[in-house]
Amino acid sequence: MSEKIVVFDTTLRDGEQSAGIAFTLEEKLEIARQLEKLGVDIIEAGFPRSSPGDLAAVKAIAREVRSARICALARAVKEDIDAAWAGVCEAAAPALHVFINTSEVQIVHQLQKHPEEVLEQAAAMVEYAARFTSNVEFSPMDATRSDPQYLYTVIERCIAAGATTINVPDSLGYAVPEEFGPFFKGIFENVSNIHKARVSVHAHNDLGLCTANTLTAIQNGARQVEVTVNGIGERSGNTALEEVVMAIRTRKDFLNFHTDINTREIYPTCKLVESRSGMPLQWHKAIVGRNSFRHGSGIHQDGILKRRETWEILDPEEIGIPKGTQLVMGKLSGKHAFRKKVDDMGYRLSEAELLRAFNTFKELADKKEAVDDRDLEAIILDQQGEMDNPPWSLDHIQVSAGNNTTATATIRLRDDKGNIVEDAATGTGPMDAVYRTMNRITGVVPMLTEFSIKSITEGIDAQGEVTIRIQENNQTFTGRASNTDIVVAGASAYTNALNRLVATRLRCTKNVAASEDH
Ligand code: KIV
Ligand code: ZN
Repeated sequence: MSEKIVVFDTTLRDGEQSAGIAFTLEEKLEIARQLEKLGVDIIEAGFPRSSPGDLAAVKAIAREVRSARICALARAVKEDIDAAWAGVCEAAAPALHVFINTSEVQIVHQLQKHPEEVLEQAAAMVEYAARFTSNVEFSPMDATRSDPQYLYTVIERCIAAGATTINVPDSLGYAVPEEFGPFFKGIFENVSNIHKARVSVHAHNDLGLCTANTLTAIQNGARQVEVTVNGIGERSGNTALEEVVMAIRTRKDFLNFHTDINTREIYPTCKLVESRSGMPLQWHKAIVGRNSFRHGSGIHQDGILKRRETWEILDPEEIGIPKGTQLVMGKLSGKHAFRKKVDDMGYRLSEAELLRAFNTFKELADKKEAVDDRDLEAIILDQQGEMDNPPWSLDHIQVSAGNNTTATATIRLRDDKGNIVEDAATGTGPMDAVYRTMNRITGVVPMLTEFSIKSITEGIDAQGEVTIRIQENNQTFTGRASNTDIVVAGASAYTNALNRLVATRLRCTKNVAASEDH
């Protein structure tokens, strides 16, 4: 049976300490309710002495959130502890978190005290907090830069004074995993009463090592992790809840532990905190980033389509990600993924249509960074109903136009036997020049009754869709095409319409010939 790791969430305290974040009381309550749904064991709701607003928020959370333990932070001074207790005293399960600096640099330069004085103050204030509740956590701040012997003494005295949890902070994200393990071992080996307390780890991310450090601490005896949703927190942030929880779950073969987190609530929680904190998740954020389950390379897409596990170690559904695995259509995508995408979009194309659509998609993907569903839809619709061997197809187009020049188009069309015919013409504008040239090549001079352009997607590299209607003998023929170059789209659309006209002419000629034979 695996051992449980207690999840202590400090999104509303250390997370809120991020420069640029200030939750309102309502937002704090909303996040606390969601943390309860997520199944965290302890919510550090705030630092009540820091402001009357924070005290009010902690009180509101303590009254409403009943299944998680509610904790409040206090410096090792009576007024802070009194305020913290005022915040959490109505909670179903209250806890106090008392901290003091223990590194020499912080004791000397920030507190401007003597280490002995700090030791006595820590022990006295833990004892004071323990008068209110048996759930007292003590943190020796900047533990990893503290003198180990001094640290052992402070921890021992605080446990003797009533601390039931000893939280070991790597307050500046200074530790590296190889030393963090032995550092925790040192605490277990040198603090005589350590077995009377739960040992907790609190890591910061200044060197990008906080998740690795947290997991190392667990492997070396820590049984509580202090984390924040999305890793928000001071400077480069705290250890991200979602990373630790999913690492433990995914590597249970290696880490024989579990948490009580309802993983399906991870994504909704991360999105809520993202929106309320105003701190956008980076696209490649582990577990919940926009790209975490999006696959761009053709080789990866092919693997995923054969078996999801080829390129995913996590199941997006388990994390509550509604869209799940996504194949992103781009220039690296292969035919296999393209066919699946077309099917998923509900279109049924023949092999020839699919091949043509795929070729057009590849051309577009070379020009356009992201090919989205609307682009694909336009390509598919262009191909549907296209002739397998059309009378004319566009081989090459070159147009010059401008305010002080005569618009000229040079066009090469290929006929249904593969012959290339080239011609050029001028016009009042680029599209006029294109149509005049095509009329000369094909010998067809229909009446143009409609020419419309619409943008399919946003941005400067958007595809334009051109619709053309031409008339001959009171019959209308429509052509539609899309391209990032609207002149090319116009030429393709005109070719489509001309082909329909020519095919109809041919059918009529055959019918007349057949009726004359009878
Ligand atoms: O990083 C830190 O040291 C803290 C303490 C208050 C635990 O946040
Ligand atoms: Zn911290």
